[in-house]
Amino acid sequence: MQSQWLEQYADPKHRKMLFPNGPAAVGTIFLDFLAQNGELQTGKTLVDLGCGNGRNAFPLAKLGFNVMGVDGIPQAINDANEKNQSETLSEKLSFVLQDLAESTWNIESDQFDYAIDINTFSSLDRRTQRNYRNELKRILHTGSLYFLYTYTVKDEYYRQFVTNDTADDGQPGTKIVCADDQVTRILYSRDELVTFFSPTFELVYEEEKIRYGKMFDEYYKRNFQVLIFKNN
Ligand SMILES: C[S@@+](CC[C@H](N)C(=O)[O-])C[C@H]1O[C@@H](n2cnc3c(N)ncnc32)[C@H](O)[C@@H]1O
Repeated sequence: MQSQWLEQYADPKHRKMLFPNGPAAVGTIFLDFLAQNGELQTGKTLVDLGCGNGRNAFPLAKLGFNVMGVDGIPQAINDANEKNQSETLSEKLSFVLQDLAESTWNIESDQFDYAIDINTFSSLDRRTQRNYRNELKRILHTGSLYFLYTYTVKDEYYRQFVTNDTADDGQPGTKIVCADDQVTRILYSRDELVTFFSPTFELVYEEEKIRYGKMFDEYYKRNFQVLIFKNN
């Protein structure tokens, strides 16, 4: 994984912004979707890809999911494991150190009902994104759901880092290097994301989210895409 992630986690100011403690509000879209489709049942298995400090994994385990949080930052996994020991959730919750760039993830095949990714996918390089798609399919059951929440190419904060050098490399998506955190990201449009995950995954829900958010003392119009796919 990009070493910059380790530096961001170690830096208190960046950690506070990139790894907040409260759960992502967007999670309610996924829970509402499950409820409306009669899928909100306890004991379902869920993997959180790029779980960071576990801010989404903990509340999901409290709701009754059996959750595995996966991330490539050793300190983030240690912090999440420590918190888990003090919260008596350990039977329902585990955290695993895993670099998603590795061609085979150290995770058993065909074991999850759901996968969620909250702002991880965009910071994987293209090769890793293709590998991620294959590994994601491998670890899900047929018919499982995958919830993706990601910045898009319309995002005002990230757009300022588009340059002629990085944007047009002849492939889908726009590559940027964020000057604030030095993380390289590939930002896609909604259509590019849907094309990327089809036909392996079938789109079953989508929603564009726009909100104003503060990044390094300035407000930006943030643009996100929610996509829920079914593993066919
Ligand atoms: C913006 S943070 C989001 C964290 C979490 N999903 C949340 O909502 O707070 C992106 C996460 O992706 C993880 N990540 C990025 N590249 C990764 C890789 N190659 N392998 C594993 N994790 C990775 C980072 O360590 C980080 O925790």
